[in-house]
This record gives sequence, C-alpha cells and structure tokens, in this order.
Amino acid sequence: MRMDLREIINEATSRLTASRIENAQVEAEWIVAHVLSKDRSLLYATPPHEITPSEHDCIDKLVRRRACSEPLQYVLGSIEFLGCQIQVAPDVLIPRPETEWIVDTTICETRNSPFAILDIGTGSGAISIAFARHWPDTLVVGLDISPEALKAADTNCRANRCDNVRLVRASLHALPLYQGLFDLIISNPPYVKTSDLESLTPDVRDYEPHLALDGGLNGTDSYASIASHAHRFLTCAGRLVLELPGTDPSPIISLFERSEYGCHEVQHDLAGKPRLLCMQKSA
Ligand SMILES: C[S@@+](CC[C@H](N)C(=O)[O-])C[C@H]1O[C@@H](n2cnc3c(N)ncnc32)[C@H](O)[C@@H]1O
Repeated sequence: MRMDLREIINEATSRLTASRIENAQVEAEWIVAHVLSKDRSLLYATPPHEITPSEHDCIDKLVRRRACSEPLQYVLGSIEFLGCQIQVAPDVLIPRPETEWIVDTTICETRNSPFAILDIGTGSGAISIAFARHWPDTLVVGLDISPEALKAADTNCRANRCDNVRLVRASLHALPLYQGLFDLIISNPPYVKTSDLESLTPDVRDYEPHLALDGGLNGTDSYASIASHAHRFLTCAGRLVLELPGTDPSPIISLFERSEYGCHEVQHDLAGKPRLLCMQKSA
C-alpha cells in the first residue's frame, strides 16, 4: 500500500523531534529526498506524492540511525564540499564548513597556480580534491596515517575525476622527505585536547574517528610536529596554511615563531573566530 509523502515526512519529523534533533523537519526532508533521489527543494513540487512500502522501509532505517545521534552526513553517505561530492563514513571526519571557507579563502588569495600542494591529514580527501579540481595542472599530495581515510580519499578522488592527487600513508610526526617541493602546505590537523574528547556532543564523540580529533594533552601535538618539519618541504616563499581550533591561537602561533617564517596572519571565520593561520617562508 502506498503512503502519503507528507504523512511520512511528519512521522519522521516527530521521531527526530522526540530524539532532540534540531531542525528535525529539514533533516526529515533531507532523508526522504535522499531515498527518493530527489532535490529537497522540489520534494513537494514534483510527483510522486506517494511512497512505496520499500521506500518507507529505507526512510525508516535512516531515520532510526539519525534518531540515535548518528550525523546526518553519515546517514546520507555524502556531503558537498566546494561543489565536489564527497562520500563520508564513520572512518573519516565529516568535512566542516569552516574548512570549506579556509580552502576557498586560500584559493582566492593565491595569484598563480601552485606547482605542488601538500595536504597533511587529508581524511576524506575533501581539501585535496577541491584544490585538484581548481588547479588541474597542480600536483596535490594528500597524506594521512589512517588506511581507512586513504581508502575513502581514493574513492572520492576517482568519483571526482582527480588524477592529479597522490595519496601517501605517513605520519605527520615523521613526514617523508619532500625537500623544497611544495608552494603550499595546508593542514586541518587533529586539535581537540584529549581531556575534552568525552565532552564533545554525542554525534561527534560517538561517531567520528577520534584519530581525526585527538590533538594530545594541549591539543597542539600535530601543530608542534608541523612546526618542526614543514618549512623544509616548502619552496622559498612557500606558504603554510593551518586550520585553527577557533580559540585563542597564541599557543599555536608561538610554536611557529621562528626565523623560517616571515609573517603570521590570523584570519577570522564567518562566526568571527580565529580560524586560519597563514605563514610565508622567509626567502
Ligand atoms: C581533523 S581531520 C581532517 C580531515 C580533512 N582534512 C578535513 O579537513 O575534513 C585530521 C586528519 O588527520 C589524520 N591524522 C591523525 N593523526 C595523524 C598523523 N599522526 N599523521 C598523519 N595524519 C594523521 C586523521 O586520520 C584525519 O584524517
């Protein structure tokens, strides 16, 4: 027996509301639109306005997962990042709008196409893919320690037809030698203090990989390693762009206050938080 579209959306909305999901109706509509392979904005405008029992089953399963706090992006399986479709699963961090803003800002502030870019902690590959699509002649190296993340990044590179990305398994604490190769090094490293992991919201704490979040005792372990080594991989006047946690950036900036970098520029995101640290290597 076919069921009415609005009834199904109302039912899903009630279930998500009961599970304290904010924007329950919008999320219910995303789930229904996903199952029906429709654009959410056209959900009510185009037929069918009825749903088959098997579609209802699918919707029901996805709503249950979301009601248990699993992030909507994992439930739907993908996210849009600067116009690229990026598949996400609990093996990889969900790319954030702040990171999208950092990549967009970096692209806008770069005059000439870089020869080579290094993306440290590539995760789903979102940053590497956005750069690779914008600069198809640039070599982009995406590095991560997690084999699962590299597998996801590989899938995403293929789906986005990026043949200028090379994926490398390595630790940012022991970077492979790329002496003076990159005009741009970018990283959104793990930056949550280990002691803060437990107090993250359940959708992040219980579903996203802690490897992608845990920045050590002070949240600065990854920045300290990048500060020790990254300058050797930059060309003369190459730039290092880092995502910041959005709190007081001075402990991180102090790690980079050495002669290798000429200036430190902090930019604030759309919410007014310090989010981007850009440094240029002294010639
Ligand atoms: C905050 S996530 C960023 C993911 C992606 N770049 C993004 O912005 O959505 C940090 C990434 O660093 C990786 N990572 C954690 N420890 C690492 C290490 N020691 N060496 C290399 N990568 C590491 C994690 O696997 C994760 O993919």
